[in-house]
Amino acid sequence: MADKGGFAHYMLKEIFEQPQALRDTIAPRVSLEAGVVRLEDVHIGSEELRALRRINIVASGTSRHAGMAGQFMIQTLVGLPVDVDYASEFEYRNPLIGGSELTIVITQSGETADTTAAQREARAKGSRTIAISNVVGSTIAREADGVIYTQAGPEISIASTKAFTAQMAVLFLFAVYLGQERGNLGKDQVRGYIRELLALPGKLENMLRSAPDCERLADKYHQVQDFLFLGRAIHYPVAMDGALKLKEVSYVHAEGYPTGEAKHGPNALIDESLPVVIIATCDRDDSGSVLRYERNLANIKAFKQQSGRVIAIATTGDEEIRRLADQTIFVPATPELLLPILEIVPLQLFAYYMALRRGLDVDHPRNLVKSVTRE
Ligand code: F6R
Repeated sequence: MADKGGFAHYMLKEIFEQPQALRDTIAPRVSLEAGVVRLEDVHIGSEELRALRRINIVASGTSRHAGMAGQFMIQTLVGLPVDVDYASEFEYRNPLIGGSELTIVITQSGETADTTAAQREARAKGSRTIAISNVVGSTIAREADGVIYTQAGPEISIASTKAFTAQMAVLFLFAVYLGQERGNLGKDQVRGYIRELLALPGKLENMLRSAPDCERLADKYHQVQDFLFLGRAIHYPVAMDGALKLKEVSYVHAEGYPTGEAKHGPNALIDESLPVVIIATCDRDDSGSVLRYERNLANIKAFKQQSGRVIAIATTGDEEIRRLADQTIFVPATPELLLPILEIVPLQLFAYYMALRRGLDVDHPRNLVKSVTRE
């Protein structure tokens, strides 16, 4: 308990450490006054950054989900095409990489064998690499041209939580940095993004107050054996990670799907026995987000008509979703590209309390290790 700072498990402690992890990751790298993001260890000059034609992201597991969110951040803020690969699949697709491409390698531990191999493959093909890692001096950080450390502190629990949110914060910082260095973003725009980033830790702190709601959800659903997690666009990786957390710590089968794909197959499964967790937040300042929200509303209505049980993650104050869904967990209003950093928190808590209710060893799920050092 001493090591765990009074928490029953490392996983819960690490979920609650997320506001501090975000502060430590963001604050030293931004100047609101100057309207500048500084990433000193990137070691790739502005000229080279301006010449980039494509970015590849490679990673495994939860780190890859962060990469999927990063794809939206970089494409939206910088306008560069971004591909995301499973590190374990990277070499098999014989990636066509050249010198005008950058490969971003994301890894909490910095020692994952599949990710190390992918990084070596990218380097052998002439790509520069940047590592996003939580461990200073790890193999992957040492082999990269540049590095951006997540300052999440040691992550002990096998399920990755605070490293994930810190990785997404770093990817957003990098997207703003790239936009700034390539001349896509002016100082006022950079300032606006910095302001939003700096507001995140406080919002996340508020979200942690919803832990008892997540605990009640687990009380209600802990005997259920299958879940479907749905999200559109940048919220799809959140659905994927919510499903992964549930699988690994509570041994409950869960699938993450893009919401629009439900009608192409999984819909056949939806009835009272398969609860649907749907990310249905909305950034009212973004017309694309509003459109996706309207579609989500229609989806929720259709699932209810099929007698489905719906757990929604929605924006604070959304009474319409609260009326439609069986249970709703609220997330404070935030620009769409940053919402995943908040949306994942109730899903982490839900997975934690589900494992607890099912009497499982939350910090050490069977058949898994913290750092997968063999291929
Ligand atoms: C999930 C989890 C794993 C890791 C994956 C990559 O909670 O922890 O999926 O994300 O094994 O590990 P790193 O980031 O250390 O390369």
